[in-house]
Amino acid sequence: MSLTALDVMARWLHILAVVVWMGHNYANVVQNPRFQPARPADGSANDWSLAALRREHGIFRHASLVVLITGVYMLWFRGILADAILLSGRHAVIGLGVWLGLLMVLNLWFVLWPHQKKVLGFVPASREERVRCSRVTFLASRTNTILSLPAVFFMVAGAHGAWLF
Ligand code: HEM
Repeated sequence: MSLTALDVMARWLHILAVVVWMGHNYANVVQNPRFQPARPADGSANDWSLAALRREHGIFRHASLVVLITGVYMLWFRGILADAILLSGRHAVIGLGVWLGLLMVLNLWFVLWPHQKKVLGFVPASREERVRCSRVTFLASRTNTILSLPAVFFMVAGAHGAWLF
């Protein structure tokens, strides 16, 4: 497959993965508009529901890596990776989106996920620890939801909105 064809595929995969990743975040805002501490484990979680939770959280977590890898590939293919990262010249616009995206990926993998594993019961944790972690995951998830708005703006403006700046 030619590098150009790979670039076209990367764009669609990028947008599809963004929809999956952000879709999960936005659904979370609708389902849990306010913070609710983790409920005590009442033994209702069975193997099926735990498997479904693992699948759901696995899909949106790995979608973030598809966003990152396809995004970096497109920057490399266009020869603007350094300019975007260094926020230089007109590529500073998409560069701002890239830095916001990187922050969101790091937040998901190094803040949200380690705490979410305890809230969801994937790793053992005391009741107090699960309540503390549910607060951290709520705030980390909301942070990514809010960061996604300027991220999308700078991504689209970087691609089509140079006249804006
Ligand atoms: C994680 C790091 C990211 C990198 C390196 C990256 C990189 C890119 C690149 C190079 C493009 C193509 C721009 C062009 O055609 O000139 C793009 C498009 C796009 N990105 Fe990202 N991106 C990242 C994260 C994100 C995130 C977090 C979002 C949404 C929350 C996002 C949403 C979009 C959208 C909607 C487009 C299509 C823009 C358009 O063609 O109108 N990206 N991205």
